[in-house]
Amino acid sequence: MFDVIVIGSGPAGYVAAIRASQLGLKTACIEKSCNAEGKSQLGGTCLNVGCIPSKALLDSSHRYSDLVIQSSNHGIKVNKPKLDISKMMDRKNNIVAQLTGGVSGLLKTNNVAQLSGNAKIIDSNNVELSSKENVEILKTKNIVIATGSSPIDVSVAKVNNKNIVDSTGALEFKAVPKTLGIIGAGIIGLELGSVWARLGSKVTILEAMDEFLPMADKTISKDVLREFNKQGLNINLGCKVNSAKSHDKDVIVRYERKGDESELKIEMLIVAIGRRPNSENLFLKSSGLSVDEQGFIPVNNFCETKVKNIWAIGDVVRGPMLAHKASEEGIMVAERIAGNYAEMAYDLIPSVIYTHPEVAWVGQNEQELTDVGIDFKIGSFPFSASGRAIASGQTTGFVKIIADKKTDTILGVHAFGPSAAEIVQQGVVAMEFGASAEDLGLTIFSHPTVSEALHEAAMAVNGQAIHIGNRKK
Ligand code: FAD
Ligand code: NAI
Repeated sequence: MFDVIVIGSGPAGYVAAIRASQLGLKTACIEKSCNAEGKSQLGGTCLNVGCIPSKALLDSSHRYSDLVIQSSNHGIKVNKPKLDISKMMDRKNNIVAQLTGGVSGLLKTNNVAQLSGNAKIIDSNNVELSSKENVEILKTKNIVIATGSSPIDVSVAKVNNKNIVDSTGALEFKAVPKTLGIIGAGIIGLELGSVWARLGSKVTILEAMDEFLPMADKTISKDVLREFNKQGLNINLGCKVNSAKSHDKDVIVRYERKGDESELKIEMLIVAIGRRPNSENLFLKSSGLSVDEQGFIPVNNFCETKVKNIWAIGDVVRGPMLAHKASEEGIMVAERIAGNYAEMAYDLIPSVIYTHPEVAWVGQNEQELTDVGIDFKIGSFPFSASGRAIASGQTTGFVKIIADKKTDTILGVHAFGPSAAEIVQQGVVAMEFGASAEDLGLTIFSHPTVSEALHEAAMAVNGQAIHIGNRKK
C-alpha cells in the first residue's frame, strides 16, 4: 500500500513525488512515456519537448545571430559563421538526456518508487497500471494526477510530422527551412519563430486574434509587436486559416483577413495554437471524477478534486500552463497530504517569453486594474537610459512598475528588454513580501546592472527617478 501515487513525471509530478517522500510518505511516480530502450522517459513535456530543448535552441540561435548581427558593432570582425544544425540538435538532445536522467537520479535518492506504464484511476484507493508485460492494481491512500497537456490540433491544418508539425516537430528540423509559416502568435509561435528566424528562415505568423499578446500589459505588447516585426517575424493579426495543404516540397496555407483570402506558400508549417489537458481515458466513471468542457480536471485552490484524497496539479488543471506553477502545486499538495498547511500565491505566478529581448511580467497590468476600478500609479524606465544596457548594446524596451495609488504597494512588474525574466523575478520576491515602490526604491542595486532599471522604475513611481524624467499617473 502506497501513501501517495503520483501519475506523471513532469515538473508537477516528479516534484510532488520528491516532496511527498521527503515528508516520510511511501510514494510512487508512474510515467507512461518510454525511450528507445523501453525505459521510462521522465521529465514530461518541460524537460523532453518543452522548456529545456526550446531554451537550448533559443540560446544556440541567439549566439549565431549575435555573431552575424552584433559582433561588428563591438569591433569584432568574424568570417560568416557556418551553421552545423545536426551538432546544434545533438547539443540540445544531450541537455535533455542529462536533465531527464537527473530526474531519475533524484527520484531514486529520495526513495520514490519509479513505475513504468499507463495509469488509470479506478477509485481513490486503486490505480490500474498497465505495461507491455502485465496489468496490476496498485493500492494507495492518495492519488495525485499530474498528467500534463498536449498540443491542440486543428482540422484545417493537420500535423503530418513531415512539413506540418507541432511544437515537438519544430524542435527537430534537420535543416533550416527557407520559409516557415506558424499558426498562432502565442508563446510557442514567438519563441520557436525566433529560433528559426535567427538561423535564416523567412518567418510568417498567422494569428487569429486582432490583439497581440492580450495577456501582457498593452504598452509592452505594442512595443513587442513592433520589435518582433523588425526582427523579421512578420506577424499578421486577425487571420482565419481556412486550409493548409501539404505538397511534396511545400505547404500552401489559405487564410482570410478582413474578408480577403490570401495564400501563403512555405517550406514548413508549425501549428502552435495552444495546449489541451491530458485527461482522456485516465479514470473510470466509478471513480467519481469528471472533467470540464475543455477537459480540465476541476480543482479548488488547494488542488483537491471533488473526490476525497484525489488531487490534480499542473497543466491538467486550470491556470497558466507553466512549469513553475506546476511544480509549486506539486509541493503544496505533498505538504497538504502530509497534514501540513500550504497554499499557492496564484496571483504571483510570473510569465516569461524567452525571446530576445525577453518579455516578462508578474501581477496585474493597467487594463486589469482599470477594469476592477483600482487606482494606481506607474513608474517606468527605458533601457536606453541604463548605463549597463547601453554598454552592452541592448537598449530596446523598458521596465514598468504599477503600484497602488494610496498604499504604494507594488501591484505589477512588467518588462521587455535584456534579462527581463531575472528583473521581473526580483519583482516577484518584492511582491511576495508585500513591498511598496518606495521599499524597492530604497534598496541598493549594484552598478552597473540592467536591474538598475527596476530600481529607477520603482523610484519613478513616486516621481523620484534619477536618470530620466518621471511619469506619474
Ligand atoms: P507534463 O510536463 O506534460 O508531464 C505530464 C507527464 O505525465 C508526461 O510525462 C506524460 O507522459 C505523463 N502521463 C500522462 N498521462 C499518463 C498516464 N495515464 N499514466 C502515466 N503517465 C502519464 N513552461 C515554462 O514554465 N517555461 C518555459 O520556458 C516553457 N517552455 C515551453 C516550451 C514548449 C515548446 C512547450 C510545449 C511547453 C513549454 N512550457 C514552458 C510549458 C511546460 O512544459 C508545462 O507547463 C509543464 O511541462 C507542465 O508540467 P506537468 O507536469 O503538468 O505536465
Ligand atoms: P498560446 O495559448 O500561448 O498561444 C496560442 C495562440 O494561437 C493564441 O494567440 C491564439 O489566439 C492563437 N490561435 C488559436 N487558434 C488559432 C487558429 N485557428 N488560427 C490562428 N491562431 C490561432 O499557446 P502556445 O503558443 O501553443 O503555447 C502553449 C502553452 O505552452 C502556453 O500557453 C504556455 O502556457 C506554454 N509555454 C510557455 C512558455 C514559456 O513559459 N516561456 C514557452 C512555450 C510554451
